[in-house]
Amino acid sequence: MPVKIKPDLSAAFWRNYFRIYDRLAATRTNRRLIGRAVDYLRVGPGEAYLDLGCGTGNSTAEIVRRGGEVLGLDLSTFGLTRAQTKVPKAGFVKADMDQSLPLAPGSLSGALAINSLYLSHRPEQVLGEVFVILKPGGRLVISNPRRGAFPQKILEEELQLEKEYLQMRYDWLNAKIRLAVKTAIRLADFAVFLPFQLVLKQESPHFEHAEFWGTRAKAAGFSIESVDNTLYGGQNDTLVLVKPLR
Ligand SMILES: C[S@@+](CC[C@H](N)C(=O)[O-])C[C@H]1O[C@@H](n2cnc3c(N)ncnc32)[C@H](O)[C@@H]1O
Repeated sequence: MPVKIKPDLSAAFWRNYFRIYDRLAATRTNRRLIGRAVDYLRVGPGEAYLDLGCGTGNSTAEIVRRGGEVLGLDLSTFGLTRAQTKVPKAGFVKADMDQSLPLAPGSLSGALAINSLYLSHRPEQVLGEVFVILKPGGRLVISNPRRGAFPQKILEEELQLEKEYLQMRYDWLNAKIRLAVKTAIRLADFAVFLPFQLVLKQESPHFEHAEFWGTRAKAAGFSIESVDNTLYGGQNDTLVLVKPLR
């Protein structure tokens, strides 16, 4: 049976993507995803971490904020340039995660891959390599959109979180007006972003279920500590993977 090999998404795709991406990265739903994923990483002050497919550095910034030393790795020069400006304390490297990872065995306390591992063409190899570069007891947190994920659920969660915030902060009328304005802004943001998401959905090699990631993580040697399917409007599966002590 012929195998259709999809081309890699181009540098131009990511450049245009990142021009609008940071507007959505600032949403409450995305900040909740990053916050929870970094909680799962259990950042220790001065410990070393890898942010795999770091993009413009939003999760990198959160690890630094909690005292970790981070190396952000990404293919996109445009994303890395933004990340460097945003998080001057972190190190950054331009590399393809599908090639070998430029880190020594046993050198990291943890690694994070938010919305990036599903873009890998060789997830088994990447999981195997991360396993090797982690210290025993080290943690890998991966969060990927599930097969059949609905982007509108992410928007729904965003508006719900915004509503809860505004209701706490403002009187009834003020909260209503502000929510109406915020809804219009977010609808426009999501509408502009939708074509990019559709391309990602078509081109990404691995829009998969949690079982897919769990099976491959176990084959690489990890134990699965937990699976969280509540984040990003309930559209992402977030797995907490641990390298056993021995
Ligand atoms: C959807 S963005 C997520 C960025 C970031 N993790 C976040 O949550 O804000 C996916 C990122 O993965 C990167 N990426 C895709 N394929 C990659 C590869 N083979 N090696 C390294 N980075 C890759 C892209 O350049 C992009 O920055």
